[in-house]
Amino acid sequence: MRKFFILFLCLTSSGVFGQSQTNERAKWFTDARYGMFIHWGVYSGAEGYWKGEKLRNDNDYAEWLFYRNQIGREEYLTLLERFDWDAIDPEQWVILAKKAGMKYVTLTAKHHDGFALWDSKVGNYDVGDYTAHRRDIVKELAAACKKHGLRMGLYYSHWVDWEHRFGWNHERELSGIAPKDYDKYWQEKVIPQIRELLTNYGEVSMLWFDMWIHHSQTVVTKAQLLQLKSLIRSLQPDCLVNSRLGLSIEEDPDIDFKTLGDNQLGSHKEEFPWQSPGTVAHSWGFHSGESSWKATSVLLKSLIGNVSLNGNFMLNIGPRANGEVPYEIEHRLLEIGQWLDVNGDAIYGAAAFDLDKNLHDWGKITMKQADGTTRLFLHLYNWPLNRQLPLTGITTPPTRVYLLADKQKQPLEFTHGGAFTNIRLPAMAPSHYVSVIAVEYEQIPETVQNIVAKTTDGGYSMTYDKTVGERTLKQNGRNREGTVPPHVSIKSPQTLKWRLYVDAPGNKNIDVSYSFAGDKAVGKITCRTVNTTLSHTIEPSGQTVGEPNQNWAIPRFLSHRMGKIRFPDAGYYDVELEIAPVDNSELLFQWLWLGQ
Ligand code: GLC
Repeated sequence: MRKFFILFLCLTSSGVFGQSQTNERAKWFTDARYGMFIHWGVYSGAEGYWKGEKLRNDNDYAEWLFYRNQIGREEYLTLLERFDWDAIDPEQWVILAKKAGMKYVTLTAKHHDGFALWDSKVGNYDVGDYTAHRRDIVKELAAACKKHGLRMGLYYSHWVDWEHRFGWNHERELSGIAPKDYDKYWQEKVIPQIRELLTNYGEVSMLWFDMWIHHSQTVVTKAQLLQLKSLIRSLQPDCLVNSRLGLSIEEDPDIDFKTLGDNQLGSHKEEFPWQSPGTVAHSWGFHSGESSWKATSVLLKSLIGNVSLNGNFMLNIGPRANGEVPYEIEHRLLEIGQWLDVNGDAIYGAAAFDLDKNLHDWGKITMKQADGTTRLFLHLYNWPLNRQLPLTGITTPPTRVYLLADKQKQPLEFTHGGAFTNIRLPAMAPSHYVSVIAVEYEQIPETVQNIVAKTTDGGYSMTYDKTVGERTLKQNGRNREGTVPPHVSIKSPQTLKWRLYVDAPGNKNIDVSYSFAGDKAVGKITCRTVNTTLSHTIEPSGQTVGEPNQNWAIPRFLSHRMGKIRFPDAGYYDVELEIAPVDNSELLFQWLWLGQ
């Protein structure tokens, strides 16, 4: 029998709060966290169809109609006849953004189709030349933003332009374009149009460019991008520029924030500002065939998840040709706005906290320091029916805990010991979507890294990615459509170790889940913790079927009870699992579970 391991606490004071790599210009942006994207242009008149044909390239974006359906430059503009110019009122978009709790709006001033939504003096492919009263949507939006106190950003497609004789479209991959011709487009259109946008419309808080691959893979040169950026810096030094300019933050730290892929949410914490652009369904421009609308809670969790990793979320509306925002979008935005009215404190000016993003099974944490107190906001994605909220990994006791929705801040009961706080919840969740618990500390709370958290059902799930020490094996992710769960393949004896904080003495069961394809019992699994050793003989688990009638045999993962262990005190414990298959036979280890 091995003696048990006394753990040491790996106490770290909780790192740097806020975002250390945010420049002065971008401070408002990381405070704002949530903005509106507006995709609206000539394509909005088509609603995803052209001459009876649905947009080519299934499941593609409505705003790509011009290119996808091979429409002529002039004929494309006949779509403008479907626009109801008397009804179109950009102020309504801004009012919606405000009600939705968004702090900035970004309009597609010029999308890939090359058509400018302002009265541009550069060329004649712009809204001023095609509307009876020379409308200027950028001007109207700028006035509305000013009136309602929101910041204005402008999307500008610099790389791709389908209307200009020398602009880029993907067909040029076949035909090619001489760099000097492309530069004509750049100097004749991009540079003077950006000059117009930054001269005639007051403060532009952000220019949102859209080149989603690195400049070295495109016709655009780094020199052209730098020319564009220095023009922006000279005209409006406070205007933010995103990484889809074609320059990454790593390559040029003067880029203000990183733009992730379309609908790509954050996966890890960053110290520089970043943002995900998101849609409510799939397309950015209005598409009448769209039907897979994301639920309000899905969108809300996208925002919360990003903020919990220091990111922003910019959610798109694709208004119709009369300016109307589709009901499915509008009502979700308003629901999120109502949530933010109550819980905005946990989003605006909030940042990541220094614990692993997947530590807790109940949701995410954001953090804010203000007026001498630090508050953690626990975003509960699922309200525990047993009214117990386990918070693992923080050694500092809170001073006060309350529901963020409760204006009286009535204290919730809690107990705290070691690296564990248990919060007693009321029976009723304050929100149908995500309920927020505010936890106050006098000082920045201390954390313990690399421990396994207690789950809401009172156990500890020990998987390979939560082990302490060097991880030399590769964890295979979920595969075969999720029918094969994440696991590690073990062929020679391995010892895996985890660290736990057990909050109360008592007996706990230990179960191990694995798959073993052999046909006889060979090898051993040994678990050691406290002063107990439990042994298990590896058993064949055979196969199971993932889906019927498809030759879909997959390894079967089975849970085996190894025994019971008595934890004499609350405290830190090491758990060690030795897996020893024999004769090079392969065992697929899934998890070790400690529970009631
Ligand atoms: C892509 C698309 C574009 C859309 C944008 C939004 O770049 O080409 O249509 O505007 O993503 O993020």
